Parts: sequence; C-alpha cells; structure tokens
Amino acid sequence: MRLTSVLCLLVGNLSVGFTSAATLPTRSNDADNGLAKGHSKDQSWTNWVSTWSTMPQLTEPANLPPAPFNGSSAVFVDTSIRQSLKVTAGGSSFRLRFSNVFGVNNLDLTAISVARPGNGSVGTTSVDGSTITAVTFSGNSSFSIPNGAQVVSDPINWPLSDDGTLSITTYLAKGQSGFSITSHPGSRTSTYLLSGNHVNDQDFTGGVRTDHWYFISGVEVVANDDNIDAIALVGDSLTDGRGSTTNQ
Ligand SMILES: *[C@@H]1O[C@H](CO)[C@@H](O)[C@H](O)[C@H]1NC(C)=O
Ligand SMILES: *[C@@H]1O[C@H](CO)[C@@H](O)[C@H](O)[C@H]1NC(C)=O
Ligand SMILES: *[C@@H]1O[C@H](CO)[C@@H](O)[C@H](O)[C@H]1NC(C)=O
Repeated sequence: MRLTSVLCLLVGNLSVGFTSAATLPTRSNDADNGLAKGHSKDQSWTNWVSTWSTMPQLTEPANLPPAPFNGSSAVFVDTSIRQSLKVTAGGSSFRLRFSNVFGVNNLDLTAISVARPGNGSVGTTSVDGSTITAVTFSGNSSFSIPNGAQVVSDPINWPLSDDGTLSITTYLAKGQSGFSITSHPGSRTSTYLLSGNHVNDQDFTGGVRTDHWYFISGVEVVANDDNIDAIALVGDSLTDGRGSTTNQ
C-alpha cells in the first residue's frame, strides 16, 4: 500500500485550486512516472518523510502574542508555549523543525518537550504525563537558532501512528528580542501560553489561548516503509485550512 503524507503550504495570495489526496493518480509502478527514488533502503539511507508542515511567516503586529507575552522590547520572555498538531503518515520515530527564518535576532530555545496530548485531541492544555520527552539538539536540551535559520531536533524514538497527535511545549527564558518573529497565523489548533518553565508539567492550568503557531514549522517521520512519501499542496488560505473547524 502506498501512503502519502499531505502538507499544506500557504503562499501569499496565490490562487491555486485545492487538490485532495483522493484525486491524485495512484501509482502501480514508480518507474512508470519518473518518480522512482533511485535508491533502496540500506544502512546509509533513512526514509525521513515530512508528515506535517506549516508555512513560516513574518508575524503581523496583530498576530503577536497577547499581553503580557508581548512585551515592550521582546516577546515570550520567561514563557512556555504549548502547541499541538496532527500528522498524516506515522512512522517509527520523528523529529521536530523550528524556524527563526524571519527573526532578526537569535531565537534561544531554552527547553522543549514533546508529549501525547492529554486525551489524544489537539487543542487540549494537558498532556499524558507518562509520555513527556525532552527534545534535544545534538544532545543539548537548549539551542540558539541564528536569525534567518532553522533547526531540526534529534530523532525522538517513539512510534507515531497515522493521524497521530503531538503536543510540543517550548520554554524561552529570554524570549526573543524585537518583534520580528516567525509564526503561522492561521493555525488550526489552539496554542496556550503560560509564564515560567512548564515543559515537564502535565497540566497547563491558566494557559492563555491563542490560535497561532509560533516557531514550529515541520515534523518528519522515519516512514515505516519505502513506499511512503509526501506531497505538498501550494495554494491560498483555503488550502491552508481556512473555513475548517479549529481543533477538529
Ligand atoms: C505587540 O507589541 C507591538 C509593539 O508594541 C505592537 O505593535 C503590537 O500591536 C502588539 N500586538 C499585540 C497582539 O499585542
Ligand atoms: C479532550 O479534551 C478537551 C478539553 O478538555 C475537550 O474539549 C475534548 O472534547 C476532549 N476530546 C475527547 C475526544 O474527549
Ligand atoms: C547547549 O546550548 C546552549 C545554547 O545554545 C549553549 O550555550 C551551550 O554551550 C550548549 N552546550 C553544549 C554542551 O554544547
């Protein structure tokens, strides 16, 4: 069976028709359509497949976080950001991508955890405490992303099912200086903000809700077999999910 992960990327006001996976031609033989990968699975090759992605954007003033997380000279100072997402294709392990592509200052990620959402649903504040896992970067729990750059985490070795959900909690001790930050305003899941370091907390009581994604920009999985790959949909805000129900 061929599984395909579907990514939606929003590009300005470009108007491109919506394509659903169901209308794509199925492939019986990769060699027939010129899309053969040209490699076989061996020790030297891992089939990392993008399974969730969101287009990084420069955050407009109105989409910066609400006070007190939007300070006078920096945003997210001493703040934990709990965000959730649903992947398409699962895999045996996964890694997370964080973007500072629109930042003009370094983005200092102090500590990050990933967990399964409390009841498995996106948009929930709590997580399943037994699944809280530290996210590291070359073994370091902190990472400073230079302005204009992005970072990919070390692999997290727990299996993710098709349609699996993740809750990612990012703590920024210093926040990010200035107001040029990278986000995706049209998140389809709710994000929660809380002062202090709460990466290891099961509950996120008192978290302030804001329906935007900040800094997270991709999830890749080690696909369960070679016949899994990704397609990207390029289009307008409808392709991005506008009109769908948040947290569904
Ligand atoms: C955040 O602060 C900046 C700078 O003062 C301001 O331009 C922006 O409107 C504020 N946004 C929100 C959502 O509070
Ligand atoms: C999960 O929890 C949230 C928040 O408490 C609730 O809105 C949602 O209905 C729950 N979902 C399920 C499947 O129980
Ligand atoms: C871990 O990352 C922090 C933040 O970038 C850095 O200051 C520190 O030197 C790093 N530690 C190691 C052991 O690489």
